[in-house]
Amino acid sequence: MTETDDLRGQTAVITGAAQGLGKAIAKAYACAGMKLALLDIRGDLLAQVCDELAGLGAETLALPCDLSQAEPTQAAIDAALQRFAAPRVLVHNAALLITRSMQQITFAQWQHEINIILQAAFILSKACWQPMIDAGAGSIVYLSSGSGYRGFVEEVAYNPGKHGIEGLTKCLALEGAAFNIAVNAATPGAPINTPMSDSNYTEEQKQHWVDPALLAPAFVFLARQAGSGLTGHRVAARADGSWDALDLLES
Ligand SMILES: NC(=O)c1ccc[n+]([C@@H]2O[C@H](COP(=O)([O-])OP(=O)(O)OC[C@H]3O[C@@H](n4cnc5c(N)ncnc54)[C@H](O)[C@@H]3O)[C@@H](O)[C@H]2O)c1
Repeated sequence: MTETDDLRGQTAVITGAAQGLGKAIAKAYACAGMKLALLDIRGDLLAQVCDELAGLGAETLALPCDLSQAEPTQAAIDAALQRFAAPRVLVHNAALLITRSMQQITFAQWQHEINIILQAAFILSKACWQPMIDAGAGSIVYLSSGSGYRGFVEEVAYNPGKHGIEGLTKCLALEGAAFNIAVNAATPGAPINTPMSDSNYTEEQKQHWVDPALLAPAFVFLARQAGSGLTGHRVAARADGSWDALDLLES
């Protein structure tokens, strides 16, 4: 199996699926006929999302967990792998952005944000890696950001976390090529109307934000990739349903 047009009946694992962009990706995958394992710390919202997706005919598994903690993260992905076949796609979308200066932030706060972004990316990818190899194909998508390649004031944890995600993308894309596994970083190519943006965007930025559902086609495209397709790229998902892909392995 290489790149695939048919995602029907295949498994997607999505983190941060209780709201915002993760929920929009989950809906798009449900509409493509995928089975969904959904991870989020907000178990209450996750249950509502699963009810909504069941209405679309999707088979879902809600896995409430704190992705800043290694053991619950491992337990959640183990439960997903036990219930469903090898994931066709893993989308690590969960993140937390709390702006604090270097003077303000504590080590515990820094580690908390870094763990959600980067430690969870490692644990989830490590768990899916061998099943994807055994299945002959797979696609891993990490949510990056402008913060994955530029510096921003008071993003002492988020900024290096997102840079780390792009580093992991480059490294695993090289290793995944031998196993037909695609590894890409995705970033919203437009400001999106989500709870994270609500907390962090200026009123001027909020005037231009868009429904995250408009970005979902890029994530369906990424779910179809394998090592023989698009891999090692930063993919900007555009609000018109298109995407731009920058080759990270050449940068
Ligand atoms: N909002 C934007 O404009 C924007 C821009 C660039 C990149 N991004 C990236 O897109 C992704 C989605 O962003 P969003 O705007 O939808 O964010 P959001 O805050 O609206 O949603 C993030 C989800 O992650 C979950 N989460 C947070 N901490 C968690 C934890 N410890 N364990 C489990 N789940 C946890 C939240 O409950 C939430 O459901 C993030 O990776 C973000 O960095 C967003």
